[in-house]
Amino acid sequence: MPTIEQLSAMEILDSRGRPTVSATCRLAGGVAATASVPSGASTGRAEALELRDGDPRRYGGLGCRNVVGHVNREINTALAGRSFAAQADLDRALIDLDGTANKSKLGANAILAVSLAFARAAAAAAGLPLYRHFADILGETLRTLPRLTVNLFSGGKHAGEQVAIQDVLVVPAGAQTIDKGLATVYAVYQAAAKLTHDKYGMRALTADEGGLAPAFASDEAMLQDAVAAIRAAGFEPGREVALAVDVASSHFYRDGRYHLAGGSLDSGQMINHLRDWVRRYPIVSVEDGLAEDDWNHWPALRREIGGEAPARNGMIGPAGSRSHPDYNQSHTGQRRSHTGSDPTGGVLVLGDDLLCTNPQRIRRAIETDAATALLLKVNQIGTVTEAAEALRLARSAGWHITISARSGETEDNWLADLAVGWAGEQIKVGSITQSERLAKYNRLLAIEAQTRLPVVGWPGDRIG
Ligand code: PGA
Ligand code: ZN
Repeated sequence: MPTIEQLSAMEILDSRGRPTVSATCRLAGGVAATASVPSGASTGRAEALELRDGDPRRYGGLGCRNVVGHVNREINTALAGRSFAAQADLDRALIDLDGTANKSKLGANAILAVSLAFARAAAAAAGLPLYRHFADILGETLRTLPRLTVNLFSGGKHAGEQVAIQDVLVVPAGAQTIDKGLATVYAVYQAAAKLTHDKYGMRALTADEGGLAPAFASDEAMLQDAVAAIRAAGFEPGREVALAVDVASSHFYRDGRYHLAGGSLDSGQMINHLRDWVRRYPIVSVEDGLAEDDWNHWPALRREIGGEAPARNGMIGPAGSRSHPDYNQSHTGQRRSHTGSDPTGGVLVLGDDLLCTNPQRIRRAIETDAATALLLKVNQIGTVTEAAEALRLARSAGWHITISARSGETEDNWLADLAVGWAGEQIKVGSITQSERLAKYNRLLAIEAQTRLPVVGWPGDRIG
């Protein structure tokens, strides 16, 4: 049983140059491990509280010195010398020590840094790779590697809001390994960089997650350009390479309307708009298609684009049971099967801001059939154990899991281990530029080389 000898922390900088927290856990016996926490910009209102110093003279108030002090003093004083048989025991002690519903006393950043550092130290003490330890925490066996969903074009809060939609992502659905998937994404990214230069006269300058962010004429132009880049790279859109979209619509929802470049839409019109996109473009996943507070309309969105409701109690419904309208149909008149349908036969209706990795919100979404997939960001809830609870709940409803990084990341790579250990169907890390993103992709490559696990197949497609 691991006994904590000392917990300590320091302030480090994330990929936007803003302070964040790195914690080190030293166990009796000498094993020590360090983990750092990411930070979002397009945050959901129900997220656990990321505590900041608030001193405007230092990092514009974003300093984390108080949070570091909470680890070095309160948390270390309370936990040093104690033994924890399981991750859940340590996390319970952290939650109790904080005592607030949203971790606002000690800070979710302090708590998560300790939770992760302990997980990594416990894995090292047991002589296990971190991905295997994460699988053990969940009570799972290692099964698969996640599908890649990789940021190609950025808008919204990650790119100065030149368009409202936040991300268009490339999904290398025809690639059966991480290695091949990354090579596919590279080719599409290079084609998109050339398109950015030729069409917009811009160098390939990147947004917060490494996506390209030219001055698109409209939100839909992001999708059109993404399809053009897939073709220019020599792939067939919707077959070898598909798209995912993070609409992040909470951030352009005001007074009950969605404010897009072409005007504002009510919820019903927004659903029609997304349904139209899903019909015309090879989209396999739509994240936050509606706003975090627009609960009443999510079930209609789920029905319109998500296919049948998933079977409950962990039973995944029949693969590809519903035909999916092909985006090419309007151009060619032909119907072609769509690569990458989810277990329901529709497009993944993925909740990020809506759910905030929060079991209470996930339960509400399950009860109302509002979604078919959970975007899991551990720092939205603040401990490994609560994130595991969120995942179990989503799985019990037959949902998919997309394990996600944040737009403010560090060079730490635990997310790749988490995605494999928890058998996430998808991983979302950002683009294939910038080392805070590559740290995760490179770790996935290493795990693939070690384990030879298969990438999750897309049901109903030619690799399925
Ligand atoms: P973040 O959001 O900027 O809060 O990390 C990313 C996302 O919306 O998925
Ligand atoms: Zn999102």
